[in-house]
Amino acid sequence: MSSASIKAVRGTRDLLPPETELWNRVEATARAVFARYHFGEIRTPLFEDTSLFARGVGEETDIVSKEMYTWEDRARAASEKPQSLTLRPENTAGVVRSYIEHKLGDTGNLQKLFYIGPQFRRERPQRGRYRQFWQIGAEVIGPPSSGSESPIRDAEVLEMLATLLDELGITGWNLQLNSVGSATDRPRYVAALREALAPIKDRLCPDNQRRAETNPLRVLDSKDEADQDLINALPKIADFLDEASTSHFQQVLAALDACGVPYTVNPRLVRGLDYYTRTTFEFTHSVGLGSQNALLGGGRYDGLSEMLGGPRAPGIGFAIGEDRLILTLQAQAEAAGTSSATDKIDAYIAPMGAAQNASALALARSLRREGLSIETGDGTFRLKKSFDTADKIARHIVILGEDEAATNTYTVKTFATGIQSKIERSALTAALLA
Ligand code: HAM
Repeated sequence: MSSASIKAVRGTRDLLPPETELWNRVEATARAVFARYHFGEIRTPLFEDTSLFARGVGEETDIVSKEMYTWEDRARAASEKPQSLTLRPENTAGVVRSYIEHKLGDTGNLQKLFYIGPQFRRERPQRGRYRQFWQIGAEVIGPPSSGSESPIRDAEVLEMLATLLDELGITGWNLQLNSVGSATDRPRYVAALREALAPIKDRLCPDNQRRAETNPLRVLDSKDEADQDLINALPKIADFLDEASTSHFQQVLAALDACGVPYTVNPRLVRGLDYYTRTTFEFTHSVGLGSQNALLGGGRYDGLSEMLGGPRAPGIGFAIGEDRLILTLQAQAEAAGTSSATDKIDAYIAPMGAAQNASALALARSLRREGLSIETGDGTFRLKKSFDTADKIARHIVILGEDEAATNTYTVKTFATGIQSKIERSALTAALLA
């Protein structure tokens, strides 16, 4: 057996303290904002039946055709067929499956659901792109009678995202918005695209030549420099929207104008998942993300429930790439010269001998119960080692020797001021919080 150490799998990574504190802060802010907009949390399984994604996200998409972690699960009995399972590459299909399975539409109410969790895609790893990554997402879905199709829902979701990014301290985000039309508009547009692509196909890069055949919409979000002029001259989806889709989009834009959320209409934003109808959007950011500049993406999926065998249930949602959000916050902090590092704990208790270890633990217990963050040393440590360790992680050091234990009065040093004093237990909590 090899004795080489085992590393995290390519494209996956460990998140360690103190960085995880930033992750928790981001998630706590997201939860607080979601609560204010009346969203409740949904937790769906990390793996699902493969056909959920094949039907929901679309066989032809990059995600389903190339990027899924799929395996045949062993059959439990000889008579059973093995089931094909897939680690979720995204969570919208799972949420809609759950909506259908639990008949959430029967309540007649709009369902506003959020989730925070890992997703899995076998993509080429690079900065901001991982094979296990985290999404913070939300979906608004319900029967048409609940108002789920209303442009107000789109605008509310976008306004909530603007608020969330502002509260997280993300500056300089850019909302890009488009409408990909209804299920009937899209095929007409795709047909026109195919027609326009046919005579110019040979002049495109090999990737775009392939896309022109298999999924012409994907040509629109190509970043290939040399192809940009040809792509910009292709027909625009706005010219293929029916009256209802055009009016829906205009109402979304008017509502955003009314609440002061800035946006850019990007006619080439079609997004890489098949379930989208009407409004699609991305929030991009230029700091810290390089080519992976989409902080989050989302849109409407008015036909997804029916594609999965459910009732009519229009919906709209988004997913934030949490890894990218964190990278952006770190890059912003670095550019501003501020550290995103976390605060020091309140105090470090240094027992002066092994005999004080138990008293140190008892004191730590009572201070922690009062809400203070405390670390304890060990009686075998020399005083200098205790001071050095304490200075790195705590705002105060509490010396606990035989005398202190006997009199319930402690020697406390505050590192910021260098002041050292004797403090009685009754005044200790306040002193350590100061
Ligand atoms: P998506 O655009 O595939 O949409 O992913 C949303 C976000 O997840 C991206 O904008 C990006 O920030 C992040 N992301 C995607 N792939 C990776 C990766 N390999 N590494 C790091 N971050 C990544 C969806 O997933 C839809 N389910 C969004 C949605 C919800 N639409 C409607 N409701």
